Amino acid sequence: MNTVTICFTNNKGGSGKSTTCSNVGAAMARMGKKVLLVDGDMQLNLSLSFFPEEEVLRMAKSDKNLYQAVTKQRDLTDDIVHTPYPNLDLVPSSILMSSIEYELFTKWQREFILKKCLKNIRESGTYDFILIDAPPTLGGWVLNILCASDQVLVPVEASPWGMFGLANMFDFLEEVKELAPQLRVMGIVVTKADVRKTYFRQTMETLKEMDGIRLLDTVIRVDSTIEWSQDNSEPVVEFRKSSRSAKEYTELAEEVMKLCQ
Ligand SMILES: Nc1ncnc2c1ncn2[C@@H]1O[C@H](COP(=O)(O)OP(=O)(O)OP(=O)(O)O)[C@@H](O)[C@H]1O
Ligand SMILES: [Mg+2]
Repeated sequence: MNTVTICFTNNKGGSGKSTTCSNVGAAMARMGKKVLLVDGDMQLNLSLSFFPEEEVLRMAKSDKNLYQAVTKQRDLTDDIVHTPYPNLDLVPSSILMSSIEYELFTKWQREFILKKCLKNIRESGTYDFILIDAPPTLGGWVLNILCASDQVLVPVEASPWGMFGLANMFDFLEEVKELAPQLRVMGIVVTKADVRKTYFRQTMETLKEMDGIRLLDTVIRVDSTIEWSQDNSEPVVEFRKSSRSAKEYTELAEEVMKLCQ
């Protein structure tokens, strides 16, 4: 199988993108898949999922990270670091990513720069999956992430504001296909679900009825084990393997892999 690149996008902040990206990646790696995670956000949350703060800041300030590669338009291979887990590598981010849109603005074919930086890695076939964590925006940098991806998965929090603007975002993703014809919209995964609430059930019904948009079967429930795992710089699938969240994220990784076939 060729390398499949999946990005995790939603312009709504705090919808579970980074948590989902880190845990789906870690669960895939536990199943023997070779996975490269790309931290596309200046908040460095994907990097913090695997390394302690001092190490993440050191990588962010070094000359080997996503910002350095993208602004220099160079291959990303030398920016890859191994995480503490087998089969799982990471391209760390930088706080300087806050200015990436400005840096890219004058560049020729600016929407395709990340795609070019990933070209050699994809063609080498080293990885089964490349997973990219996007920031909570829909600007030119996220467009770069979408143009570099084969699939986009949208984590959604089942809350009133989590639902707000969702249809517009899917319209935007459809428009992006003009620039990125390879892009498939995998669908929505509901995160941080409190399944006891009537509001949750109502939201699930609304999401199921969204025209032409798949609602994934796996639901990630709210669980403080996730916060403890992040406090410990570990994905929950490694931090507490027997936890409900670890099981849910393993199920989600299986569902995602199936949808990529
Ligand atoms: N299933 C869960 N149960 C409890 N807390 C969760 C769960 N998933 C995520 N969280 C918490 O919710 C917050 C937001 O999650 P996360 O950072 O993954 O979202 P995000 O979409 O990446 O945010 P941003 O838009 O800022 O990048 C984090 O503090 C995280 O610890
Ligand atoms: Mg995030």
